[in-house]
Amino acid sequence: MTRTACITTPIYYVNDRPHIGHIFTTTLCDAWARAMRMQQRDVFFLTGTDEHGVKVEKSAAEHNVSPQSWADTNAAEFQRVLSLFQLTNTDFIRTTEPRHERQVQAFIERLQKSGALYKGSFEGWYDEGQEEYLTETRAKECEYKSSISGKPLVRAQEQNWYFKLSAFSDRLKAHFESHPHFVQPSARMNEVVGRLREGLQDVPMTRTNFTWGIPMPGDPGHVIYVWIDALFNYITALDYTDASEKNPRARYWPADWHVIGKEILWFHAVIWPAMLMALELPLPTNIHAHSFWISEGKKMSKSLGNFIDLPTIESYIARYGLDAWRWFMLTRGPIDATDADFRAVAFHETYTADLVNTVGNCSSRVTAMIVKTFNGQMPQDIERGGAWPARCQQAVADWEKHFAQFQLADAADDAMKLLREVDVFINQTEPFKLAKDPAQRERVASILAQCLESVRIALLLLEPFLPQKMSEFSAQLGMAADAPWNVRSQWGQLQPGAAVTKVALYPRVEVDKA
Ligand code: MSP
Repeated sequence: MTRTACITTPIYYVNDRPHIGHIFTTTLCDAWARAMRMQQRDVFFLTGTDEHGVKVEKSAAEHNVSPQSWADTNAAEFQRVLSLFQLTNTDFIRTTEPRHERQVQAFIERLQKSGALYKGSFEGWYDEGQEEYLTETRAKECEYKSSISGKPLVRAQEQNWYFKLSAFSDRLKAHFESHPHFVQPSARMNEVVGRLREGLQDVPMTRTNFTWGIPMPGDPGHVIYVWIDALFNYITALDYTDASEKNPRARYWPADWHVIGKEILWFHAVIWPAMLMALELPLPTNIHAHSFWISEGKKMSKSLGNFIDLPTIESYIARYGLDAWRWFMLTRGPIDATDADFRAVAFHETYTADLVNTVGNCSSRVTAMIVKTFNGQMPQDIERGGAWPARCQQAVADWEKHFAQFQLADAADDAMKLLREVDVFINQTEPFKLAKDPAQRERVASILAQCLESVRIALLLLEPFLPQKMSEFSAQLGMAADAPWNVRSQWGQLQPGAAVTKVALYPRVEVDKA
C-alpha cells in the first residue's frame, strides 16, 4: 500500500480577509504536499475556514447580514485565493458544514461518556455591552469599566461545560518526553513543556452568551466553544467518527504535520492532544509552529499602512511571478523560531540573486552552450558522470530528509548548493574555451552532459518551491512528470542525442520598476 502523507493548516477565521499570514502557512503546507506527491506518497492536504463564534456573529451584524451569509462570502474569498495561488489542497473544510457539525456533536457525546466533561460554574468580570468576560488583569487595567461603553463591569456567573484538561497532565508530560520532536522548532517545544510544569486548568468548552455555534448535545442552551469546535476539523474532514478501515479517509490519520502559527500552539500541542487522549484516538505525529511576518521592520498594522494584504501580494506577483512569491515565502519566511521581516528591497534582492542569477543563469548557460557546441543535442558523456552522480544522489537524499523533517528552507538550499557547484565547475573547467580546440570535443561533451544532468536534478528538487518554471523546464527536456521518483531523481535520465533548447526562466526585473 502507498504510504500516506497528511498535512493541515489552521482553519482561518472568516471575519478577516486573506493576507500574507494565511497565505504563508498554506504555502508551506503546499510545498510539503507537492514534495510528498513527487515521492509518490498518498497525500491529504487540508485547509478550511473557522466560521463560528462571537466575533463572526458580531462582524456579520455590523454588515447587516446573517452570520451564515457572512461566512459564505468570506469562505468563498479564501477558496478563491487558494486557486489564485495554485495551492493544491485536497479538501476545504468549513465548520458550518453539516458533516462537521454532526461529527463534532458525536465526538462531544463520546467525551461526555468518557467522563472527561463536567458542568461547573464560572465567575468573572463581564462587559454587558460587549458580551464578553474580561480577565482579572484586564478588568483592573480598565478600572472595572467597559473600555468601549464606559459602563461598569458586572460580576457575572455562568454555568459551563468544562473539559478536564488537568486530568491529562501526566499523560501529556509522558508524551512530550517520549516524543522529543513532537513540537517544532525546539524553542517552541521548550515553551510548552515549561508551561505544562506550571500546572493545567480545566477548559470551559461551552458558552451561553451567544448562539452562533454548534449546540451542546443534550443541553440546548449551551453552544460549543469555537476553539473546541475548530480543533475537531482535522478529523471531521476525514469522516473520523468512523475510524474503521471501511472509511477511505481514515488512513490519513494521524496527520504527519499540523502547521500553525506560534500564537495558537497551546491549543494544538496541549488541549487538542488531551482531547484525543480522552477519545482514545491517535495524536498527530508532529506540530510545526512557525513565527510571524512583520513588515518593513514593524508589526503589520492597517493603520501603519504596512499590511501585506491581498492587493499588495498581487502586485508582487504581477511584477515578479508566482514562483518568486513562493520562493520568498518558503526560503526567507518565519519558518523557525524568529520572526521574518518582509521588505520590498529584500524581496527584489532575493529574486535577483537566487532565481535570476543562480537558477536562471546556470540553466541558461548550460543549455546555451549545448545548443551552440552540439547543435542542440544532449552530448555523450564518456566519463560516466565523474563525481557528479554521487554528488547528486547526496543532494536528493538531503532534500528528502529535510522535507521529512519539515525543514523547507534547508531542502531548497540542497538544490541551490548543487547549482552553485555546477557554476564553479563550469568556471574551473572552462568548456567554452575548450570548445575551440577540436581535440577536446569529447571532454567538452562530458562536461556539458554532466552539467545539464546535474542542473536537471537540482531543478527537479526545486519543483515544490517553483512549480511553474521548474515543470516547464523538465517538460522542455522531455522528462515525464509522472515517472516514479526513484527514476526521476536518478542520475542519467537525459539520453545522448535528446533535443536541448536554450532556456530563459526568470527575467531580470529592473529596480526602478520595483
Ligand atoms: N481560527 C483559528 C485557528 C483554528 S485551527 C483549529 C485562527 N485563525 S486565524 O485566521 O487567526 O489564522 C491564524 C493563522 O494565520 C496563524 O496560526 C498563522 O498560521 C497565520 N498568520 C496570521 N498572521 C500571521 C503573520 N503575521 N505571520 C505569519 N503567519 C500568521 O487562529
